[in-house]
Amino acid sequence: MRMYDLIQKKRDGGELTGEEIRFFINGYTAGEIPDYQVSALMMAIYFQKMTEAETYELTMAMCESGEQLDLSSIPGIKVDKHSTGGVGDKTSLALTPMVAACGIPVAKMSGRGLGHTGGTIDKLECFPGFTTALTGEQFLENVKKIGIAIMGQTLSLAPADKKLYALRDVTATVDNLSLIASSIMSKKLAAGADAIVLDVKTGSGAFMKKEEDAKALAEEMVRIGNSAGRRTIAVISDMDQPLGRAVGNALEVREAIDTLMGKGPSDFVELCMTLGSCMLLAGGKAESETEARKLLAEALESGRALEKLAEFVAAQGGDKEVVYHPERLPRASIQEPVCAWRDGYLSHITCDEVGMCSLILGGGRETKDSVIDLSVGIVLEKKVGDFVKQGDRIAVFHANDALKCAEARERFVKACTISEEPPAQSRLIKEILY
Ligand code: URA
Repeated sequence: MRMYDLIQKKRDGGELTGEEIRFFINGYTAGEIPDYQVSALMMAIYFQKMTEAETYELTMAMCESGEQLDLSSIPGIKVDKHSTGGVGDKTSLALTPMVAACGIPVAKMSGRGLGHTGGTIDKLECFPGFTTALTGEQFLENVKKIGIAIMGQTLSLAPADKKLYALRDVTATVDNLSLIASSIMSKKLAAGADAIVLDVKTGSGAFMKKEEDAKALAEEMVRIGNSAGRRTIAVISDMDQPLGRAVGNALEVREAIDTLMGKGPSDFVELCMTLGSCMLLAGGKAESETEARKLLAEALESGRALEKLAEFVAAQGGDKEVVYHPERLPRASIQEPVCAWRDGYLSHITCDEVGMCSLILGGGRETKDSVIDLSVGIVLEKKVGDFVKQGDRIAVFHANDALKCAEARERFVKACTISEEPPAQSRLIKEILY
């Protein structure tokens, strides 16, 4: 088999066989096929697209390119959750203890944030002493003992995807549906769960800006997961404004704790209940959505979900007292409001701009090696659709540097629109695909 022939076949609109896909994935991972040939193939795929069969074969070849986690020693149906990412997306922090408190074992691999979207690991490191550097045995033991463990992504999981994604990033070939779906699903399948619940975001703060693109991606990923024998459900959810009210690591941890204490913002609570219901259904803990919601509400109201978070934090070396005293989380030295400049309805917030504001304050990484400030961020006091009077606080900026704070506040003002007329209502949950 020759790489040249594969490039030519795809360039001319042909369909690659499973054998051909494995040839290039294995050869590329082993360093036997050069970047320039794989770049040419990626560009051919970008223009000619891939069939469902090709996309599935590519996913499986990348999934099998490295280690795969074996979770079979953990009793019960293991359900993983993945979000395509967005601004203020602290869902895993509240959702994983909620479902673990309902008896779903959570064995999760998470990443750090890059750019304006924060990572779960950065947020968890707001608990002093917390570590995600667990050995494979510690990880499995913790899930068996307390029902929840989160570890950092190991290099050996789907190495083909890691290499290919880095190449796509510099060759303008990231935004192809088959390449994105296979990239995400190869990692999820290798992470070993029996069932997968995907939160596919859409809107100005999401990877997929248009709802129809998010739906096509969700459909493709559900098809791949189910074909691989893992029950897969996708929830398409709104990311046209930040989720909840807090954006920034420690501020988001606090909001997740508030949510577990029954004081969460309504959109965030609803997303956790929807995703949690899907996880309970996929994990066989409930027969219907109504039953699943009841179980989740009980876990919240009884305080079991909050206790589960404390147990999990302690099991990974963190100070669990911070869960009960969130005022001890890192706190920025400056708190400056942004106030409404006129009366009217807050009709739009350009969501990714709020993420950029957090990045300017120091809450995100510009490069992989940037050190982030866990204490900074933004807390929205108004959300899209709220009526504001001139002088009302729209948001409070938490900063440690007055100049950065001024720059971010100025940018935020430009990202908000206040209008005479109320905006059209936008649904938080657009669709659920099975
Ligand atoms: N996230 C991934 O993991 N892969 C992609 O290709 C795009 C987003």
